[in-house]
Amino acid sequence: MKLSNKVAFITGGTSGIGLETAKLFRAEGAKVVILGSNAERLKAAGKELGDEALLIQADLRKVSDIELAVEETRAKFGRIDIVFANAGASTVVPLEAVTPEYIEDNLTLNFTGTFFTIQKTAPLIPSGGSIIVTTSFLNTIGMPGLSILAATKAAARSLVRTLGAELAPRGIRVNAISPGAISTPFYGKVGLSEDQLSAVAAGLQEKVALKRFGHAAELAKTVLFLASDDSSYTTGTELVVDGGLTQF
Ligand SMILES: NC(=O)c1ccc[n+]([C@@H]2O[C@H](COP(=O)([O-])OP(=O)(O)OC[C@H]3O[C@@H](n4cnc5c(N)ncnc54)[C@H](OP(=O)(O)O)[C@@H]3O)[C@@H](O)[C@H]2O)c1
Repeated sequence: MKLSNKVAFITGGTSGIGLETAKLFRAEGAKVVILGSNAERLKAAGKELGDEALLIQADLRKVSDIELAVEETRAKFGRIDIVFANAGASTVVPLEAVTPEYIEDNLTLNFTGTFFTIQKTAPLIPSGGSIIVTTSFLNTIGMPGLSILAATKAAARSLVRTLGAELAPRGIRVNAISPGAISTPFYGKVGLSEDQLSAVAAGLQEKVALKRFGHAAELAKTVLFLASDDSSYTTGTELVVDGGLTQF
């Protein structure tokens, strides 16, 4: 087992990539803590993960919720070996419809939430610990209607370098995972109709060299690599898992 007795703190652990990663981490011997804002999804994820998982309801747009979650984790486990800062969401909004409130909402979850997840967990991470941040293929290619989400993900990519440099002297590695088009509930929440979603999905799939969407489990295996000692000499980087979407 690659993560025996490691404590893993996973935001967005109730769905999609985060939930698949939590399941794989459990199977590899980790104690998992998952965070999500929706109580029902949290409960359903808890059933899949079993009794030993610590489930914490937290809205990552609130720094106080992150602080409480970290404190609950410290009280139960005393340390955090792995942080998967993965939660994220957005809606498709074209240039002319973007408002300051929309920008603020996106930034607060996708960037500020990621930053404070790392800042608040860092004091509990021992030497040898690993932080993984979920970025996006939107760092590399432009898609209409996603200007602000893409900007928050580019900012998250930047954080991985800077915080990786800050935390390296403590023996903590910081890396990003950049998913391509992955089949998760994410797309059902972006505010498009069924017809619009089908058209976007068909267009994306055509651009993917492997001609299919990825599975969350395929991302989880790469997160496991970055979380475990298998990647002990890898820090500051972004691993792309996108079937060739951004490479060819
Ligand atoms: N799927 C893709 O094709 C794709 C591509 C590129 C990047 N990504 C990135 O991958 C990450 C995971 O996405 P996914 O595809 O697995 O989507 P997902 O299935 O929709 O999962 C998103 C997770 O984020 C959590 N979350 C959303 N808002 C939150 C909030 N305010 N506070 C706390 N948690 C919140 C959700 O929990 P609750 O609903 O309970 O709050 C859920 O667990 C995201 O950062 C996304 O941007 C995905």
